[in-house]
Amino acid sequence: MKSLVFNFPSPSPLGALITQGMGAEEGRFLLKSFPDGESYLRLESPVKDRSVFINAPLVHPNGWILDLLFLSDTLRAQEAKQVVLVAPYLAYMRQDKIFHPGESLTSATFAHLLSTHVDSLITVDPHLHRYHNLSELYSIPTTVVHAAPLISAWIHENVQDPFLIGPDAESSQWVKEIAKDLPFIVLNKTRHTDGHVRITWPQEVNIGNKTPVFVDDIVSSGETLLEALAHLKNQGTKAPICLAIHPIFAGNAYEEIKAAGVHKIVTCNTIPHPSNQIDLSPLLLKALKEFQQ
Ligand code: R5P
Repeated sequence: MKSLVFNFPSPSPLGALITQGMGAEEGRFLLKSFPDGESYLRLESPVKDRSVFINAPLVHPNGWILDLLFLSDTLRAQEAKQVVLVAPYLAYMRQDKIFHPGESLTSATFAHLLSTHVDSLITVDPHLHRYHNLSELYSIPTTVVHAAPLISAWIHENVQDPFLIGPDAESSQWVKEIAKDLPFIVLNKTRHTDGHVRITWPQEVNIGNKTPVFVDDIVSSGETLLEALAHLKNQGTKAPICLAIHPIFAGNAYEEIKAAGVHKIVTCNTIPHPSNQIDLSPLLLKALKEFQQ
């Protein structure tokens, strides 16, 4: 029996590539709201004894996470063989510590919630900083796919004489892996309580005539990239390229970064966005093979 892929909360280009690449069927369901705002969900695909995959980039999840849990519980109630959550972007990973007294450790609560409603989780480069492994948070089996080989290939194929720049210490794990034989630096960032960041550029580093390529895992408010980009202004370098795995681009972040004199913004398709140019479906499909029974 064919596996089923449910694309949630809505169809996406990556979801279509995954469904097709797995030779799976698209799962169908009806989701609507009662007048009081509560959800109504009904499965329209038979799921008994079938492996079911929910493809859901968990960006801005607050408005629909409850619906995702209704879906996974209904799949289980109708005896799906397994419910695998494919979350190319894994939300709530950045509050990985109680920074100020009284704060909620949302990463732990979110992980507990997902762990109790699905059987396993596949994701792409989760923001592991103070946690070193997803198993410190998630009690279900997890698989992590790394975008580095495809980002590295994109740079090697598309950029002449690149110089990679990681905007902060957290990005160093990605930058080192992506750079391979290419020159790179990792900058120093301090985040202030008002959300503003300050980045310092080492005096001795001069990019010269190389093409600056900023590499980060997530672009959210865009503050980190904008602050890092500002350091190039006085150096008279070539127009930089900005590369990110997870393109959240909250508010006007995308427009502001474009207006900061960048040559190109390139992202992976973990979250649907016009800047998606690096398709991670080959890596996800490889990881998904293990779950196809
Ligand atoms: C470090 O915290 C991450 O690697 C990113 O640099 C950060 O999440 C980017 O966030 P924002 O775009 O809001 O500065």
